[in-house]
Amino acid sequence: LIEKSEFKEGMRRLAASVCIVTTELDGQKIGCTATAVCSLSDTPPSLMVCLNQASLTGKAVSKSKKLCINICSTEDEATSNLFAKSSNDLDKFQNNDWETTQSGSPRLRSSIAAFDCIVDNIAIAGSHFAITSLIQDISISPDKNEALLYAGGSYGKFSSL
Ligand SMILES: Cc1cc2nc3c(=O)[nH]c(=O)nc-3n(C[C@H](O)[C@H](O)[C@H](O)COP(=O)(O)O)c2cc1C
Repeated sequence: LIEKSEFKEGMRRLAASVCIVTTELDGQKIGCTATAVCSLSDTPPSLMVCLNQASLTGKAVSKSKKLCINICSTEDEATSNLFAKSSNDLDKFQNNDWETTQSGSPRLRSSIAAFDCIVDNIAIAGSHFAITSLIQDISISPDKNEALLYAGGSYGKFSSL
């Protein structure tokens, strides 16, 4: 196996869309920033997200069995930084405009798209939960479509060649 530092150096070159993964458990809103999100299939519509087993969000999703994947817009950089902090002693949900999806997870109104999901399967993969989810509902912003990207330790946005 390669060294952890080599893994990190390589993965810094994998530009990714920044998402805020949220859930609700026992009346509490919980969420974190995540880039390990990918499309799984359109039959049935499903996606996958990998969350650290030690994170509050990972623990909460494994219990609540529901989540919302909010794709950040270029205006959500501060929200991404806030949600990358641990939820201990911090109410991450007080600053932004949130609404509740049909399944009960918080949806970020400023996101460019949001997927309301229920968990289909959770595989334990080393330090992380590999969570596959079925998409129940989608909300697509009519006016915003610029995704917030993360690569090389910095935020950016997409521009075509
Ligand atoms: C750009 C970025 C991407 C991240 N992607 C992930 C990810 O895909 N999965 C994950 O478990 N943590 C990811 N994190 C780290 C979590 O956001 C961080 O550990 C957070 O404090 C967890 O909060 P919680 O314990 O309140 O759930 C990422 C952080 C940043 C800044």
